[in-house]
Amino acid sequence: MVQVEINDEVMEAQLGERLLTIARRNAAHIGFYCDGNGLCTMCECRILSGADQLNPPTDAEYTWLPAARLADGYRLGCQAALRGTGYVRALTRAEELRRQLGAIFNPPPGTSATENLRPFLANVAMVNWEHIGTFPFNLLRTLNRLGPLRFLWPVEDLGLFIRDTTRITQRMLGGGPSPSVRVVDPTALPKDEQLAPAPATKTPPR
Ligand code: FES
Repeated sequence: MVQVEINDEVMEAQLGERLLTIARRNAAHIGFYCDGNGLCTMCECRILSGADQLNPPTDAEYTWLPAARLADGYRLGCQAALRGTGYVRALTRAEELRRQLGAIFNPPPGTSATENLRPFLANVAMVNWEHIGTFPFNLLRTLNRLGPLRFLWPVEDLGLFIRDTTRITQRMLGGGPSPSVRVVDPTALPKDEQLAPAPATKTPPR
């Protein structure tokens, strides 16, 4: 059994499992509109530490994530799987955006709404550029990879998809932590772990 930390919560996982699978099982805040088929990028995560415990980026990630984004430690949760037993810490893009938005409406002490607006807008702009800037080309590559049927209807188990979406939404609306996870207080971590730099990901030429 391996332990993975997603959005400051420790979760049990198995070798080979994808971050999206672990997050969904524990109702962590993550998006997955294409049900893990590498099409929507809603499952994007920033790997805060332990990137070397994951498989190398896949074709789907090279399609959708710009080289700079990969180098900043971002991965698709549906493509990044555990290949080592070392500790992995990840922050989902959904949660990252939620926290950045929260910092605008309720600025932490010593910060202002105006200065907190900048990282939020930069993140939203980057995400949109990922999609709109290279959209047609990436769609064609994805169509080629998935085939027309999976491309048009990527959801494999609609019942599970609805159940997981409901559980995640309920937690978002104040349902509290999932019983299977341990909540990590980020301020209790040693200083150097609180702001661990994102690992550089080696990017082969496209
Ligand atoms: S769930 Fe859609 S790209 Fe990962």
